[in-house]
Amino acid sequence: MFQNTRVRFRPVALLLAGLLLAGASSSVTAQDTSPTVERTPGAADPAPAHPELAGVFEEFGGRAGLDALMEEFMSVLLADPRMRPFFEKVEHDRVKRQLAEQFCAILGGGCVYTGRDMIAAHAAHGIDRADFNALVEDLQIAMSKRGIPFRAQNKLLALLAPMHREVINR
Ligand code: HEM
Repeated sequence: MFQNTRVRFRPVALLLAGLLLAGASSSVTAQDTSPTVERTPGAADPAPAHPELAGVFEEFGGRAGLDALMEEFMSVLLADPRMRPFFEKVEHDRVKRQLAEQFCAILGGGCVYTGRDMIAAHAAHGIDRADFNALVEDLQIAMSKRGIPFRAQNKLLALLAPMHREVINR
């Protein structure tokens, strides 16, 4: 059942691969405006706000919808043998909260992201491109399980894609 779900999302994964390539050619804009607890020198803003996406934020169900999405996302991650080793030992409640904050801030929902920047958050975890793509696949599965429209999913994914430069570190 899980396998089937994953296969069905392959075309969207290809779309994301395209977004990743597109993102790779644009420049990183570092803005030191976010009140993160830890900031790596030169790191990009981990939660750049896009107020024009307030409609997309609503399609995610607002902050409550994002909190529910993170419950689903963490369940999918822990059920995926590719992702479980990364997430089984971290503080689930904190990571879920910080992901919801980050996505809420990015989608113009007015939240304040209190987590670390993307370099600092992932430095200890030895993440490669396949790991990154697997996590995105799991996020797509979770978003679809929550009934989030594909257009809204892709708007968010397009904003996350450039972060691969700071998340992938091996
Ligand atoms: C665009 C992609 C990603 C985004 C936006 C993202 C976002 C985040 C955020 C907001 C946190 C919490 C920050 C903090 O601890 O202060 C976090 C933590 C974490 N992320 Fe990611 N992440 C991404 C990709 C990945 C990937 C590909 C992996 C591994 C396959 C991963 C593994 C982790 C782990 C293990 C933690 C917990 C870190 C710890 O507590 O030591 N992330 N991520």
